[in-house]
Amino acid sequence: MLELPKENKTIVITGGAGFIGSNFIPFFLAKNPAINVLNIDKLTYAGSLDNLKEVQSNKRYAFIKGDICDFDLIKSVFEDFNITGVINFAAESHVDNSINSPHKFIKTNIEGTFNLLEVARHFWKGTNNRFHQISTDEVFGSLGDNGFFKEDSNYQPNSPYSASKASADFLVRSYHHTYGMNVVTSNCSNNYGPKQHDEKLIPTVIRTALGGKEIPIYGNGKNVRDWLYVIDHCKGIDTIYHRGKSGETYLLGGNNEIDNLSIAHKICNILDIKIPKENGSYNSQIKFVKDRLGHDYRYAVDATKASKNLNWTALEKFDIGLDKTIDWYLNKYHNI
Ligand SMILES: NC(=O)c1ccc[n+]([C@@H]2O[C@H](COP(=O)([O-])OP(=O)(O)OC[C@H]3O[C@@H](n4cnc5c(N)ncnc54)[C@H](O)[C@@H]3O)[C@@H](O)[C@H]2O)c1
Repeated sequence: MLELPKENKTIVITGGAGFIGSNFIPFFLAKNPAINVLNIDKLTYAGSLDNLKEVQSNKRYAFIKGDICDFDLIKSVFEDFNITGVINFAAESHVDNSINSPHKFIKTNIEGTFNLLEVARHFWKGTNNRFHQISTDEVFGSLGDNGFFKEDSNYQPNSPYSASKASADFLVRSYHHTYGMNVVTSNCSNNYGPKQHDEKLIPTVIRTALGGKEIPIYGNGKNVRDWLYVIDHCKGIDTIYHRGKSGETYLLGGNNEIDNLSIAHKICNILDIKIPKENGSYNSQIKFVKDRLGHDYRYAVDATKASKNLNWTALEKFDIGLDKTIDWYLNKYHNI
C-alpha cells in the first residue's frame, strides 16, 4: 500500500511521466509544500520514470503504473486516498501517430478523460474539488497569416489528435454545466524544453544533426507555431489550477511565433558553435520531406485573459530557452 502524508491534501496527476507532466511534478511539489502528488501513468513509449528521478524519494510523491481508461483502478485510488484534485495530462500526444493509428487517441484522450470525470463525479459530490484538463490550441484548427486563437474561438480540430482533445474538452465542459463540477481547462501552444520525447520537432532536429543524418522538415518548412517554454507552462497550470474560475478555459502561449525551418536553422547555428563539425555546417543536413497529411499552417495564441485575470505571462526568451533545451539534449545524446 502506498503511503502519503495524511495531513496533506492529495491530488492525482495523470501522465506525469511524459514531457510536460514530468516538468510539472517537481515544480508543483516545490511550489505547494502541503500537497501530495499521486502520479498515474501507463508508461507508454512516451513516458519514462527516468524523467522523475529528482522526486522519487520525495515523501509527498507516489507513482502508480496504470491506465486512465481502467475504471476499477481509478475508483480504487479515490477509495484509498482523499483525492481533492485531478490534473489530467495523460494523452496520446503525437499528431503523426494519430494519422497512422487513431484508435489509441480515441481511447485514451476521450474515454480516459470520461473515466476520470465519472469517478470524480461519484466521489466528489458536495465538494468543491477541482478537475483541470490540459488541452491544446490545436482544437481551434488552423490560422492564416493573421489573427490569434482566443478563448471564444470556434473549435475546428483537423487531426484525429486535435479532434480527440476537443472531444475531451467538451466532456469536461459538460460535467461543469450538467453536474456543477469545479473544472478548468487550459489550452496551450507548442511546448519546448527538457525531457520531450525524441519524436517531436526540436529533439528530432538536434538528434539527427548530431547523428550526421538528414534533418527532416515537413513540406516547405513554413508552418508556424507559437513556442512556449515548458516551465512557463508549468507556472501557468499551477496558477490556473489554484486560481482559475470554475467552468472557464484559459489559453497559454509563448507570444513567440516561429516557423519550423527557422527553428531548424537556429538549432543548427547553435550546434555549429557548441559542437563544430569538421567540415561545414549542420544546416547542410536539412532536407525537406513529404508534408504531414492535413498539416495545419499556423497556430498562435492570445493569452491576454490569463495575463489580465491571473497575472500569468510567459517569461522565457526563445533564444535562451532553446539554448537550455539544446544543452539538456547534448547531455542526453552525448554518445551519438
Ligand atoms: N507537448 C506539447 O507541446 C503540448 C501542447 C499542447 C497540449 N499538450 C497536452 O499536454 C499533455 C501532456 O503532453 P506531453 O507533451 O507531456 O505528452 P507526452 O506524450 O510526452 O506524455 C504523455 C504521458 O501520458 C501517458 N499516458 C498515455 N496514455 C495513457 C493512459 N491511457 N493512461 C495513463 N497514462 C497514459 C504516457 O505514458 C506519457 O507519460 C497532453 O494532454 C497533450 O495533449 C501538449
